[in-house]
Amino acid sequence: MKNIVITGGAGFIGSHVVRLFVNKYPEYKIINLDKLTYAGNLANLKDIEFYKLMQDEHVDGIIHLAAESHVDRSIKDPFTFAKTNVMGTLSLLQAAKLYWESLPEKYEGKRFYHISTDEVYGALKMNHPEGITPPFTTTASSSEHHLAYGDDFFYETTKYTPHSPYSASKAGSDHFVRAFHDTYGMPTIVTNCSNNYGPYQFPEKLIPLFINNIRHKKPLPVYGKGENVRDWLFVEDHARAIDVIFHNGKVAETYNIGGFNEWKNIDIIKVVIKTVDRLLGRAEGEDMNLITYVTDRLGHDARYAIDSTKLQKELGWEPSLQFEEGIEKTVRWYLDNQEWLDNITSGDYEKYYEKMYGNR
Ligand code: TYD
Repeated sequence: MKNIVITGGAGFIGSHVVRLFVNKYPEYKIINLDKLTYAGNLANLKDIEFYKLMQDEHVDGIIHLAAESHVDRSIKDPFTFAKTNVMGTLSLLQAAKLYWESLPEKYEGKRFYHISTDEVYGALKMNHPEGITPPFTTTASSSEHHLAYGDDFFYETTKYTPHSPYSASKAGSDHFVRAFHDTYGMPTIVTNCSNNYGPYQFPEKLIPLFINNIRHKKPLPVYGKGENVRDWLFVEDHARAIDVIFHNGKVAETYNIGGFNEWKNIDIIKVVIKTVDRLLGRAEGEDMNLITYVTDRLGHDARYAIDSTKLQKELGWEPSLQFEEGIEKTVRWYLDNQEWLDNITSGDYEKYYEKMYGNR
């Protein structure tokens, strides 16, 4: 029997992890700890409350996904990010320490798995603005589309150089997790993943926001020239990686997760427009005129690209979907679940968001 707490299980990536674990491991007890940021705050969760939960439920594993994750929000409100991402993580670590150290077996058979982002590594250079297909990415199964725009990747050993308040807060939480291993011997693991896309992503992020706007013929705000490069992974592939690493990853290790799938924003946007148009029965590309170039994001990182060779070689994980397939699935899901989108974009959330962060 395993008793596992998943934090952020109602969030985008977390919900996919909960679904995978519940279906695949019926013998596990999964406790979802969520509603902690929009409705409350992870930092407000007193150590002692979480300690009590761990004790009552005999928790032996924690998969910590709960986090504030939107860079634009972090630029407007950095304090919330420090509170939720740094203090929230520290609260969990401290409670886990108190509980596990109170047991006769201590840390034996326990695991604190912290989910982080590639953004902690800073930004990579754009050495090849036109893109090349480098020979060194042959480990990726999605081999056709990973044009590389630079000579380097983020490796597990890359120095932390966060630029945004968001990535600074994630870097801070990563450091605390590693410190709990190094200081107290807690069995921790950290993973850093590239940009995710797929069903249930909050429509403040590029792909769901643009799908929704295209549907409603609203402008598509492209920051700067749309030339920034992101490395995209289908969320279910991330959830599968989390499963593999939670069960087979080595304690105290870091694993990068990514599918060698670099895209310039503007190229992704064109794929999304064509896909939405086609699925809505519009002329393919008719909505290209919605593209609107707007003022660039402050401190906008030029390029992210993850090298996930370690994970692929040591634990045998591979991404399963080609990007076009993933985008097609994703667009279809948002078009079929308009109600889910409308609830978020028109309801109380929007009012709350405006109050907190002002009208965008
Ligand atoms: P986002 O989904 O916010 O993820 P992240 O900033 O964590 O990578 O943004 C992805 C890319 O898209 C990023 O380079 C910023 C850009 N972007 C836009 O051009 N317009 C938008 O409205 C948004 C939300 C993002």
